[in-house]
Amino acid sequence: MPKNILITYASYTGSAETIAGFISSDLESRGFKTDLIPINEVKEISSYDAVIAGSAIHSGRWLPEAFDFLESFREQLSEKPFAAYLVCMTMAMKNNEKYLQFVSDFMIPVREIVKPVSEGLFAGKLEIKRLPSLSDKIKFRISVAAGVWKEGDHINRNEIIRWSESLSHIL
Ligand SMILES: Cc1cc2nc3c(=O)[nH]c(=O)nc-3n(C[C@H](O)[C@H](O)[C@H](O)COP(=O)(O)O)c2cc1C
Repeated sequence: MPKNILITYASYTGSAETIAGFISSDLESRGFKTDLIPINEVKEISSYDAVIAGSAIHSGRWLPEAFDFLESFREQLSEKPFAAYLVCMTMAMKNNEKYLQFVSDFMIPVREIVKPVSEGLFAGKLEIKRLPSLSDKIKFRISVAAGVWKEGDHINRNEIIRWSESLSHIL
């Protein structure tokens, strides 16, 4: 029987969902069975052998619905392999190796609820016109004008597949 993996994501503009999709197709190609479900639609996790959960980062944290998921399933998650990823724009910055510890620390509140067996830190995308709030649009236009972040899609499929491949040995 192939192992049954839940891949669940909290996404605002689609990056965390795209990453979940890459992980799903990679693991399926390695013989796993996967279900891909938005994090606020997960009803149960008992039917899965392992869980991978990921979220966009807003203000240095996973999205609130991702924490709701962790809290709701914390006991069951701690009894099976649980891997976690985040997606943010800091990872899209030039010389992002300088910020690895800073970004890795975004996972501290996650680890305090359930300790992942592995963590993926990924660059996402910034599409200012898709942000619903005017204040976010202004804030991000300023960051882009100041050269902090570059608009566009920075998702690196190869890095995601490398992480997925590493998971295939531990899940
Ligand atoms: C309101 C808001 C706050 C954000 N805060 C951060 C942040 O603190 N650090 C960071 O590196 N990226 C931050 N980002 C960038 C997002 O993490 C990035 O665009 C990510 O790809 C979004 O994932 P999604 O497309 O799945 O929503 C923020 C984006 C928004 C819209």
